[in-house]
Amino acid sequence: MRALYALALAPLAIGLYSPADPIVDKHVATLTKAPAVTLKLAITQVGGATEEGTLVLSKPNFFKWETPRTLAVSDGKDLFEYDKAKKTYVKKPASPENLRKVLGSDATWAWSAFLDEDFAKSITGVRKGAGRKVRNVQVTDVAISRKDRSDLTLFIEDATGMARGVSFITAGAAAAEESAGSETIVFAKEVTFAEAPLAGETFAWTPPADAKEAAEAAAPSADATTFAAVKSIFDMNCAGCHMGPGAKKGVDLTSYAGVRKNVTPGNPSGSRIMREINRGSMPPTGRLPKEQIDLLAKWIADGAHE
Ligand code: HEC
Repeated sequence: MRALYALALAPLAIGLYSPADPIVDKHVATLTKAPAVTLKLAITQVGGATEEGTLVLSKPNFFKWETPRTLAVSDGKDLFEYDKAKKTYVKKPASPENLRKVLGSDATWAWSAFLDEDFAKSITGVRKGAGRKVRNVQVTDVAISRKDRSDLTLFIEDATGMARGVSFITAGAAAAEESAGSETIVFAKEVTFAEAPLAGETFAWTPPADAKEAAEAAAPSADATTFAAVKSIFDMNCAGCHMGPGAKKGVDLTSYAGVRKNVTPGNPSGSRIMREINRGSMPPTGRLPKEQIDLLAKWIADGAHE
């Protein structure tokens, strides 16, 4: 009986599996064709508390994501992440990678499609489930599998084709424990599409007077380029004129500390040395080969770690 059951199910499962699924396409299309959208979210820990969140997205790369504890806001140029309890904030360039990182958490991932062109590429499986009513809104459950990430279920609103909510499991603190983890359900109580992109002021944010800028807890990721990989570029091409106290313009490029003063981690094009290199004025003897320029840019983009 059991074997029969498995046999009967297998072709069905394969038949339903389709990464480039029209359900996902419709969700992305509804979201991306809107100039701006505001979602008032209820974030419920199953068996626990519900908190409110607001997500505002506007063309081209503006967003504001606020919960009682945190605020993340992008004015298209800068991205601020503010911790309300600690009163600390982190400021980063609003690069596509940084935006994706902030909106990529399970609670907001579905709507990150608004500004993430690669959204659908991370999806490896789509399975349509039952239809039901959540808070009086007719939705269809759609189970989503993703590359290198946990599964989640989107509640696709039948009327718009856009995800109205999501549920996901937050793994238990101790992975070894046989706990099922706790489920979180996020549901948009209200969705407002705007006719035009929202005014820039909506996304302007100035840190409160008593807030401190926190150094980002920037543990280098496993594949981040380190200074060892780029040191020889400085030794061979720059150190001759940029060494020690007598260095040109006081720019000492013989040590990590010296180089570090002239770069902005995470922001290659905003870094002093890259400005000179990209414009071809340094080294004065001729432009560096493209591979070396790319490697330097990657090192800075990765966080300019030692
Ligand atoms: C042949 C000597 C020489 C070499 C080699 C050289 N520089 Fe320079 N560099 C200079 C001089 C001279 C200045 C000051 C230029 C000026 O006054 O505008 C300077 C200035 C700079 C500045 C400061 C620019 C500013 O005013 O903000 C930076 C940054 C810099 N160099 C980076 C580099 C890097 C990176 C390399 C290697 C890829 C390099 N330099 C190689 C001679 C050199």
